[in-house]
Amino acid sequence: MLKPFAALLLAVAAPAAIAQTAPAAAPAAQGPFVLDALPYAANALAPVIDQETMELHWGKHHRAYVDNLNKAVTADPALKGVSLEQLLARVSTLPKAVRDNGGGHWNHRFFWALMAPEGKRGAPSAPLLAAIERDFGGLDKFKAAFQQAGATQFGSGWAWLVVTPEGKLAVTSTPNQDNPLMDLAPVKGTPILGNDVWEHAYYLTYRNRRGDYLSKWWDVVNWGHVNELFAEASARR
Ligand SMILES: [Fe+2]
Repeated sequence: MLKPFAALLLAVAAPAAIAQTAPAAAPAAQGPFVLDALPYAANALAPVIDQETMELHWGKHHRAYVDNLNKAVTADPALKGVSLEQLLARVSTLPKAVRDNGGGHWNHRFFWALMAPEGKRGAPSAPLLAAIERDFGGLDKFKAAFQQAGATQFGSGWAWLVVTPEGKLAVTSTPNQDNPLMDLAPVKGTPILGNDVWEHAYYLTYRNRRGDYLSKWWDVVNWGHVNELFAEASARR
């Protein structure tokens, strides 16, 4: 039997203990970069990408990249007002924290928009299909090349489809949070599709089966957005 005072302490302490374990948004970090809301509900891509993975991936991993990027750029007055794309274009001259977290922020912001709920995904446009046919020999061959790039990226990284400076489509991969916009990337270009092959992107559902994740991922691709990115990249040349 608890004494009244001890019972009162428990009654007061219990809600606080529950609150500490409940998921909650972290306070916004100070700095120029912000974590935008996901463009759909966290369960909108299930079962291809489960809700918990989306909540952790966006709410914890992406948030950490934004927070740490803000810390890195506010520590250096010379980086004040520099856009994310400008940072990436000369990232080889900047601290590694800018490379890792600037890449992490750009890549994830790009990634969320490349996926969409059922009914809003569309299909590759005729101009994109023609370019895929020209440069890969067909959609299935392109998908196989993209999946191969993701499957063979050692450790953490990304698979990409880019429009190269010569106007060709190319598949490439990058380690960690690097991307083809970085001055140090071996294959440079404008990304129009990218898939995150870090274990945090798929492990809760797919465990160690990265290949299964890569092949299922096509089911949630927002082709309408990919078509727009392709048209923009082609028009800029
Ligand atoms: Fe990620």
